[in-house]
Amino acid sequence: MNQTHCKNITEAHLFLFKQIVGEKFVFTDEESLANYAHDETENLHYLPEIVVKPRAVEEISAILKICNDAKIPVTPRGAGTGLSGGALPHLGGLLLSTERMNEILEIDERNLQITTEPGVITEVLQNAVKEKGLFYPPDPASRGSCFIGGNISENSGGPKAVKYGVVKDYVLNLQIVLPTGEIIWTGANVLKNSTGYNLTQLIVGSEGTLAIVTKIVLRLIPLPKYDLLMLVPFRKLEQAGEAVSKIFQAGFVPSAMELVEINALKIVNAFVGNNTIPITEDTEAHLLIEVDGNNKEVLMTEMETISENLLQFDIGEIYFAEDAQQKEELWKLRRRVAEAVKLSGYSIEEDTVVPRAALPALIRGVKELGIHFDFKVVCYGHAGDGNLHIRINKEGVKNSQQSPEMIQWLRALFQLVKKLGGTISGEHGIGLIQKSYMDIVFEEKQLELMRKIKTVFDPNNILNAGKIFDN
Ligand code: LAC
Ligand code: ZN
Repeated sequence: MNQTHCKNITEAHLFLFKQIVGEKFVFTDEESLANYAHDETENLHYLPEIVVKPRAVEEISAILKICNDAKIPVTPRGAGTGLSGGALPHLGGLLLSTERMNEILEIDERNLQITTEPGVITEVLQNAVKEKGLFYPPDPASRGSCFIGGNISENSGGPKAVKYGVVKDYVLNLQIVLPTGEIIWTGANVLKNSTGYNLTQLIVGSEGTLAIVTKIVLRLIPLPKYDLLMLVPFRKLEQAGEAVSKIFQAGFVPSAMELVEINALKIVNAFVGNNTIPITEDTEAHLLIEVDGNNKEVLMTEMETISENLLQFDIGEIYFAEDAQQKEELWKLRRRVAEAVKLSGYSIEEDTVVPRAALPALIRGVKELGIHFDFKVVCYGHAGDGNLHIRINKEGVKNSQQSPEMIQWLRALFQLVKKLGGTISGEHGIGLIQKSYMDIVFEEKQLELMRKIKTVFDPNNILNAGKIFDN
């Protein structure tokens, strides 16, 4: 996609921005602009006019006041690991990076809460609380590089969501800057709150379209002491999907339940040079199942009972990770699937989600669509949540979200998801690339309400305009 050229920023604006954040944190050189022209979404490239890196909330407030008056488009950005183009400056204008706001402000061990700035890497935050025996569970595949602020904007998930929930389940309170420059807190640092509209949760997942998040209060939980991990080979892909809801029906809540189709596992195995995981030829998919808790013996019994339950399906020999290193190897494979299959030609990751018991129907439907469109289709993801990532591989269509064949495929896929009671994004957001499919899952009235909310927060439509929907 090409850059739309519209100059929004004058020399006078530039002078003011430099005064606010300091000359060395305003960038207009080609190389810096190019660094912020893409994220992890495939095939998208939009240059900002300037990149500004504020350190303090007051600086953001001052920048937004100027942009609001002059109607300069502002794109907030975390680490740029997003998968729906949410942090891309497709209208040019000012790109506001939160990378300098990278301090953990307080870990409150009495209340099990953390207060942090948005530019902290998720894994850094997780490790900081882990040192105190505490746990912040949401763990997107990019946790080693993504920012907690970006996670809040996208309402990210990850493997642990199946037991522990997603980002929204941990956010208690947010300090935000409105597009007009006003600074407010959205709620209170409490575990229960039925006081008026829930502004906090309105901001979570709003993809930087309503406000810029500058401080975050998260609830934490005690860190479970033990976890056990197993890899279960299924001879039939659909049966792997069926097994997922059977495990819950049998009374278990695993702390992760991930599905990886065999071709994805083969590709990622080769990609990371792993040779410890046994892959047998008569296998179509694997479930990676983790249980965690404080009593090792209880966990062993749980794993055994889950394995026994799985014998009703056509499964191969289960691989139990014996130590921390084997667990880490399995998790590394899972986390790097997207990167590996992308490099091998599987393009444009989708983020479908259906009620858990509809997973086999989703898998069946996806494979039928693959045959219909003559695409190779690969599935992997958070099966325990009914959240399946899907990529396709076919010469000629893989390089554009805009190719007619790609659009037809996505409409068919999302209509299937809708028919199964699901929706088009579980954890990656809508951003730029899914917005033209919102009509499949929402009626006009619902979209109208969302647009009105956007207008209340951002009357001049300066903040991440044209993301989620066109306003
Ligand atoms: C995954 C990311 C990319 O689950 O969402 O692999
Ligand atoms: Zn995922």
